[in-house]
Amino acid sequence: MFSKASISIGKLVLDIIMTVSFLLLMEPRATGLPLHEWGGLGVVAFYLIHNFVNWPWIKFVSANLFTADLNAANRLKYGLDILLLIGFVLIIVSGMAIAKTIDFSWLFGTSWGGPWRGIHLLASLVTLIAVGIHVGLQWDWIVARFPSRSQSLKKEANHA
Ligand code: HEM
Repeated sequence: MFSKASISIGKLVLDIIMTVSFLLLMEPRATGLPLHEWGGLGVVAFYLIHNFVNWPWIKFVSANLFTADLNAANRLKYGLDILLLIGFVLIIVSGMAIAKTIDFSWLFGTSWGGPWRGIHLLASLVTLIAVGIHVGLQWDWIVARFPSRSQSLKKEANHA
């Protein structure tokens, strides 16, 4: 139904939206709290779609984790993905616990104070660093989605 090229452009657009949204979410004062809270929930939806479209890779690595077939780069990416999963779960749970404009009292009972704000901030900072490394590790794939750029890089390399 969809060509391989259009699926891969769709994945790239999704990744760019996710990364930019994450950066905006790091500064709630810039977006305002309602947009921060709804946007944060939206990013989780994008995160789930991101994992769904990359499911073949996740399945492959999970199945080969304890075999010699898997290279170190894929093991590193997989470890980082687990850190991202934990980070996203902590950000969302703590975010819902401290939410002010969306009512989650039906889920958590009375408002949770305590350490949740600190957990939210810490998880966001650690996840931000993990997102940066994650993007860096996928850099070759990202550059390859820009044909003219990757072709001119190849030409430059051939003429060097
Ligand atoms: C990827 C998603 C998210 C990221 C990266 C993120 C990041 C942040 C950061 C960096 C702060 C500033 C903390 C501080 O300066 O103390 C913050 C504050 C806050 N976040 Fe999030 N957040 C996300 C999702 C959410 C969600 C889903 C909710 C609620 C549904 C939420 C609710 C809040 C609230 C209420 C504050 C303000 C705390 C305060 O000033 O008292 N966040 N968030």
